Amino acid sequence: MFASDKILILFPLFLLASAKLNPVIFVPGDGGAQLEAKLNKTDAVHYICEKTTSDYFNIWLNMELLVPLVIDCWIDNIKLIYDNVTRTTRNSDGVDIRVPGWGGTETVEWLDPSHAATGSYFVDIGNALVGLGHARNISIKGAPYDFRKAPNENSAYFDKLKALVEEAYKENNDTPVILIAHSMGGPMSLTFLNRQTQAWKDKFIQSLISLNGVWGGSMKAVKVYAIGDDLGSYVLRESVMRSEQITSPSLAWLLPSKLFWKPDEVLVQTDKKNYTINDLEEFFKGIGYPNGWEMRKDTEPYQLQFKPPGVEVHCLYGSNVQTVEKLYYKPGTFLDGYPTLLYGDGDGTVNRRSLEGCLQWRTLQKQKVFVQELPKVDHLQILHDKTMLKYITDVIKRYSVAKRKESFWDRFSMFG
Ligand SMILES: *[C@@H]1O[C@H](CO)[C@@H](O)[C@H](O)[C@H]1NC(C)=O
Ligand SMILES: *[C@@H]1O[C@H](CO)[C@@H](O)[C@H](O)[C@H]1NC(C)=O
Ligand SMILES: *[C@@H]1O[C@H](CO)[C@@H](O)[C@H](O)[C@H]1NC(C)=O
Ligand SMILES: *[C@@H]1O[C@H](CO)[C@@H](O)[C@H](O)[C@H]1NC(C)=O
Repeated sequence: MFASDKILILFPLFLLASAKLNPVIFVPGDGGAQLEAKLNKTDAVHYICEKTTSDYFNIWLNMELLVPLVIDCWIDNIKLIYDNVTRTTRNSDGVDIRVPGWGGTETVEWLDPSHAATGSYFVDIGNALVGLGHARNISIKGAPYDFRKAPNENSAYFDKLKALVEEAYKENNDTPVILIAHSMGGPMSLTFLNRQTQAWKDKFIQSLISLNGVWGGSMKAVKVYAIGDDLGSYVLRESVMRSEQITSPSLAWLLPSKLFWKPDEVLVQTDKKNYTINDLEEFFKGIGYPNGWEMRKDTEPYQLQFKPPGVEVHCLYGSNVQTVEKLYYKPGTFLDGYPTLLYGDGDGTVNRRSLEGCLQWRTLQKQKVFVQELPKVDHLQILHDKTMLKYITDVIKRYSVAKRKESFWDRFSMFG
């Protein structure tokens, strides 16, 4: 009788504890955060380009800036300039670029501040989490970064992310954090976790949920260096976009990894020469972009450091979508021509072997690695996919149930 009284008294406490959801932090991918620019330039590439602005304005991804002519101004404002002595990049002279919204979810849920559907990013996941009882900015946070840069120029980000994880943990009754990462956010999270001690991870991290993580680079990066990418938009010209895209060291970081491509595999075929992963220096010379090779050298160490994260992982990825596997230049043409793209399996952007990189950790760490393949779901679609949303909400519910049992038994044994 006495004992059952205790249980009755404890019951409300245990319900309170059940509301304790793990806080979530979104780690976006390449192009997956808003950027803002402020101009004070002495010259511009075109008379129609503004040289000065009184305040910061949204520069990524503002479709109004991507129309003919204006796009030339945009490229000159958002491109990075590489210094091959300091081996770092900087903005164009007179351009200041900042990443707005640190810690909040707004600027990673929506790339377009006006909430145009084309600019929706983490918003469906955000809504699903709110449906579970989460609150934006309190138990769901965002960790945007300057995605143009690779980890070698983002060390301040990893420090800020560590502080944000600790803050989210404390703000939510000492509850460990779930990182949800998309695309390049996967290897960014891995780099981050590899920098922390196991004790820190055991205390502060519940798990890493990765969506289409680029674990071993992608042939898409080679394609972008060769001919650019139109971001899937019919109004953009890939050759124009290329002049901005190739200035980002993060693109060099996303090149195919030697851990995932064999030395005899031909990535780029021409009748004069075949380029394998060991011929990238010559490839960059051939396309007239030697800085690309310098950036590859700067970023490759971060690609080859492929240690398991040391936390529980849920690795979700799309498959069975045509994905560039090889560039083929017809006889009589060379790297200045236009290649035929030969396709293989993947999520449309990342090759299957790279998406599956997380499978390797299953035998290399004691924390569990769960894998969920999502056939016919492409690189960006995964963020809105129903199966993915159900997977994530189920995982989060299961963690909170596990915690409820734990706190129940903790309290029971304390009194009993
Ligand atoms: C703009 O740049 C010029 C130098 O080119 C400088 O003298 C001026 O103070 C700058 N203005 C602002 C608002 O930063
Ligand atoms: C660095 O850049 C300068 C000027 O663009 C160039 O002449 C030089 O060859 C480059 N050095 C390396 C190591 O790429
Ligand atoms: C979260 O914070 C951002 C900026 O601090 C703000 O714009 C947004 O409205 C906040 N969202 C909620 C739900 O409080
Ligand atoms: C390039 O590779 C293809 C197929 O792997 C081969 O048939 C061809 O002879 C190679 N060409 C050169 C120039 O090595």
